Amino acid sequence: MTIGLDDVVAAETSLSHVDGEAGRLIIAGHDLEELAGHVDFEDVTAMLWDGLVANAATGPQALLGEARQRAYARLAPLAPQLAGLTPVEGMRLLLASLPDAEEDHAALAVGAAGVAAAMAVRGAKGLAPVAPDPSAGHAADILRMMRDAPVSEGEAKALDTYLVTVIDHGLNASTFTARVVASTQAGLLSAVVAGLCALKGPLHGGAPGPVLDMLDAIGSIGNAEAWLDDAMARGERLMGFGHRIYRVRDPRADVLKTAVGKLKGQDNRIAFAEAVEATALTVLERRKPGRRLDINVEFYTAILLDALGVPREGFTPLFAAGRTAGWAAHAIEQAGTSRIIRPQSRYVGAWPAQAA
Ligand code: ACO
Repeated sequence: MTIGLDDVVAAETSLSHVDGEAGRLIIAGHDLEELAGHVDFEDVTAMLWDGLVANAATGPQALLGEARQRAYARLAPLAPQLAGLTPVEGMRLLLASLPDAEEDHAALAVGAAGVAAAMAVRGAKGLAPVAPDPSAGHAADILRMMRDAPVSEGEAKALDTYLVTVIDHGLNASTFTARVVASTQAGLLSAVVAGLCALKGPLHGGAPGPVLDMLDAIGSIGNAEAWLDDAMARGERLMGFGHRIYRVRDPRADVLKTAVGKLKGQDNRIAFAEAVEATALTVLERRKPGRRLDINVEFYTAILLDALGVPREGFTPLFAAGRTAGWAAHAIEQAGTSRIIRPQSRYVGAWPAQAA
């Protein structure tokens, strides 16, 4: 029996495949590197949804644009309730307000996730929501709604690359959670909300904010070794490193590093990040010899989203905005199997005779 389900195959999927030894991610039959930065988020969503969502391939830009508008009409009245919540908590509140039984529920979920991410970041600062522009690209519109200011083509491209990079990733903790909920036939929006709840933790999608905290605390390259070594001596985990499946470099890291490199004025930032990364790998190998810990997606996520001016509390909501397309696809795929996911536990408590 495996505690943590490390080697358990809990589902069959046509959506994505993670090869942890080769450092390869396949999404809807394509290597990540073929898609991220080359195919728009809407089109990758349509590829992922092909055969699962009706009309997914017909005008995915219009489909998601309309969905953002539909979502905004439902979510905007809830803006006053975002005060006092972190952005990811605000996003959870907003998505939880949506009905399960709704036409085009997959598109609504993705449209709503984009609107909710932007709204929740603004709401946490007491700022009013900004309405979507259905004619804009999904990534460009999310960033514009979040900052209420124009977005350059390069910035839109960088965020689009990010959303594609995180769109799906095998049976990670949040996708598994979404599939468990979908397996009870609870509905697609419920599965998406459950996915978000699982994503939120710092061992999963909550890591990129702490990555930036770590980089800030290190401050300069000269401090990196001592800072990282001290953190590990205290038993802390280095955020942005390690992965349950990858035993080599997470392929998403380089895709995101390339995307940051295309943004203006990021050369010094990338040089700093590369130096910290190299030092962290040395420290990890020294402190955890043979564990094969390498960089994961969250390290360059933090650098990319920071370069786009996204506040660090907004990193996880944006991750969720991209991953919702994957959660929705997995929820539909799972619901189609009509077999509930129900593993077993090993009882280690007292037996009645002993407890008496
Ligand atoms: N820093 C320091 N030590 C680590 C790290 C890390 N980042 N990651 C793993 N380890 C240690 C573990 O404590 C364990 O030590 P032990 O054998 O002495 O007990 C050993 O390395 C092996 O751990 P694994 O079994 O490989 O890790 P696991 O699969 O349990 O955890 C996880 C994976 C949660 C991602 C972990 O690497 C981690 O906490 N990383 C930091 C947080 C992070 O970056 N999360 C984002 C992951 S990507 C994503 O979810 C989108």
